[in-house]
Amino acid sequence: MKDILQQLDDRRADARLGGGQKRIDAQHGRGKLTARERVHLLLDEGSFEEFDMFVTHRCTDFGMEEQKPAGDGVVTGWGTINGRLVYVFSQDFTVLGGSVSATHAKKICKIMDMAIQNGAPIIGINDSGGARIQEGVDSLAGYGDIFQRNIEASGVVPQISVIMGPCAGGAVYSPAMTDFIFMVKDSSYMFVTGPDVVKTVTNEQVTAEELGGASTHTKKSSVADAAFENDVEALAEVRRLVDFLPSNNREKPPVRPFFDDPDRIEPSLDTLVPENANTPYDMKELILKLADEGDFYEIQEEFAKNIITGFIRIEGRSVGVVANQPMVLAGVLDIESARKAARFVRFCDAFEIPILSLVDVPGFLPGVSQEYGGVIKHGAKLLYAYGEATVPMVTLITRKAYGGAYVVMASKHLKSDFNYAWPTSEIAVMGAKGATEIIHRADLNDPEKIAEHAANYEDRFANPFVAAERGFIDEVIQPRSTRKRIARAFASLRNKKTNVPWKKHDNIPL
Ligand code: HXC
Repeated sequence: MKDILQQLDDRRADARLGGGQKRIDAQHGRGKLTARERVHLLLDEGSFEEFDMFVTHRCTDFGMEEQKPAGDGVVTGWGTINGRLVYVFSQDFTVLGGSVSATHAKKICKIMDMAIQNGAPIIGINDSGGARIQEGVDSLAGYGDIFQRNIEASGVVPQISVIMGPCAGGAVYSPAMTDFIFMVKDSSYMFVTGPDVVKTVTNEQVTAEELGGASTHTKKSSVADAAFENDVEALAEVRRLVDFLPSNNREKPPVRPFFDDPDRIEPSLDTLVPENANTPYDMKELILKLADEGDFYEIQEEFAKNIITGFIRIEGRSVGVVANQPMVLAGVLDIESARKAARFVRFCDAFEIPILSLVDVPGFLPGVSQEYGGVIKHGAKLLYAYGEATVPMVTLITRKAYGGAYVVMASKHLKSDFNYAWPTSEIAVMGAKGATEIIHRADLNDPEKIAEHAANYEDRFANPFVAAERGFIDEVIQPRSTRKRIARAFASLRNKKTNVPWKKHDNIPL
């Protein structure tokens, strides 16, 4: 008996060594942790239960029968994050470059199936040379099976990808279909075709980092949601994110203990909006002052900064925040900001996370490049996402809400439940100057008359009361009591139920 137990220990120790000490040292030498070290940092201490530690590939081509490392290049299993169940796979670059064989893919599919069945998030740590070259089409089939499960899991359990090494070719499409992608600066990259192929086909010369590094994907392409300095920071931030999310689409997000009075009055908000309507102010200040303990988890912080998206808690409960940022492009809506916010709104709606919209928007960005780029379709994404959302929605207009952007930004007309406005709000088709120049074109050469018309227009429309008279704004509130009003509004919506007519699925303008 003792021998058998010893044998098990030995086999486990061998499996845990992955591709051997030399390759582990090389991994560390690049500033990267090993697959198992990452899993242990991600999960609560001692909670990891590994599956399929002894699985090996069955390939016999190219001498592969001589090389059968236990686990086949991916560590899979389950554990907990702050006590809540999650499923994990972590590719082991020290074993055949973390390349994906048929059995490697089967291991990933197994835990994805379990996550869907048991209603828990899937977290995938990617560090792989791609399809196992020796296995050919068997490897491609494995990817296909993973993709299909990504699609089935979408909207059922949260899926999070962490890119901690290479992720290239068709392999990028699994993370691309998950809800969030995190990258590590300087040690991870993602691209469909690498620098060599790009050079051959288009004659463009770029490094892997320039083509698909963390900075590119968080600032330019918006493929990734955040970039972190190293593996440790990235994994700690995944843990923080998971705390905001429900385990699946049938559960509510967890309620955390809170130490911040929901009735907290914030007198400084009375002066947040400057006297001059064209002076910017930082919308993040408002978000931080509304959130429990000032805790804000921003998503896509580096992309389309004219709109802010992320999670806060109010009374310990997760709330998704979408906010125009007057500090960047005056908070205008454009192709990038509409796409960014639409995807965030849809995530919140799929996972029963209430949405708070903070509005200060001068309209949609004019321009040839915007029109050629399809701002009509992309703007419609945000409009559509809000309009189809059935989660509790509270909207606050702080200053401008002009034109189509007023309607798009979670207005009453899109079934938002509570629409509040500060006394500084201006809800109108457009700003006073533009409006006057159109409706009083005949007086354009008379600056005095134009100024008079503009002042009249401002008196009439640059306030929240016209909309409030029509019930489009439920209440004009004091800035200082905003947290209290919003907390009470969300509390009243906890049992919200809506009926949506049957359809197979919608046809959001993609
Ligand atoms: C088998 C692989 C491999 C692969 C790496 N290795 N990629 N084995 N299949 N795809 C092995 C290497 O042989 C080596 O084994 C070990 O992993 C580490 O690789 P190195 O090259 O020494 O590491 P490094 O210099 O860091 O380079 C990493 C790399 C490079 C950039 C990822 O290995 C590389 O270019 N690999 C090939 C990438 C590729 O073309 N993959 C297919 C893409 S197409 P030893 O024994 O020496 O440690 C694809 C399609 C997916 O993925 C389609 C889905 C639908």
